[in-house]
Amino acid sequence: MGDDERRSLWDQNSHWWADQYTARDDADYQDVILPFVKDSLSGLGKIIDIGGGEGRLSRYLIEEIGSELTCTDFSFQQMSAGNIKSLRPNFVQAEIARLPFGDGVFDGAVACLVFEHALELMEAVEEVSRVLRPSGKFILILNHPAMQTPESGFVFDHGEDPPSKYWRVSDYLVETSHFEEVEKGVFLPYEHRPISKYVNTLIESGFTIERLYEPTLSDRHIKKNPEFVTIRYIPRLLIIVCSN
Ligand SMILES: C[S@@+](CC[C@H](N)C(=O)[O-])C[C@H]1O[C@@H](n2cnc3c(N)ncnc32)[C@H](O)[C@@H]1O
Repeated sequence: MGDDERRSLWDQNSHWWADQYTARDDADYQDVILPFVKDSLSGLGKIIDIGGGEGRLSRYLIEEIGSELTCTDFSFQQMSAGNIKSLRPNFVQAEIARLPFGDGVFDGAVACLVFEHALELMEAVEEVSRVLRPSGKFILILNHPAMQTPESGFVFDHGEDPPSKYWRVSDYLVETSHFEEVEKGVFLPYEHRPISKYVNTLIESGFTIERLYEPTLSDRHIKKNPEFVTIRYIPRLLIIVCSN
């Protein structure tokens, strides 16, 4: 399945995404991702939010740090959901591997929960590097590739009394392309790659990696889902901070 079919899936599921994620109180998104990106990109004038969907991260940055935000996404339906909101970034429909901007026009870039859904990793990273100015900053946020592999999740051992609960991680080193049924009848494309693939691709595209972060589940996340207390220290996210 190529990019066109993948885009149609995001188009078809845009209402589902908006209801399930954007409108919902996602504690990790609000308490971990948003403040992290704000602190990392604060003071930068022009920022591109790559695969930004309906623009919730862009709107937050406009409000909190007053930067000029351009939000790109290949799905027109995803972006349309954000067009009705009051604070609006500049929405531009674009594939992550083909950004319609000149060289070095942005001071900062963020791609939040996007690259693990896209086929062309090397081309996408090279595009970020191209549109960023020298020393520009790039924040790459991923579902943690090691701890959130396909098929990962709780496993119960009923041989013990009471049953113990483990977090299963599947074949981490194998790169796979699959469509995950995130809810009955709702399929989204996922590209599983090990962390080394992301890190080496960034290095090969000329980025300097400054820090890696693996935040714990937020306090509010645990409070809302007490069963997750046992996996508090199994990270949901990997954040890579780099400069051009
Ligand atoms: C999981 S959502 C994340 C949206 C947003 N970044 C956020 O943090 O809420 C992934 C987004 O990436 C977009 N996307 C996926 N593959 C893409 C590609 N190849 N080019 C451009 N956008 C893409 C989807 O349309 C979707 O809006």
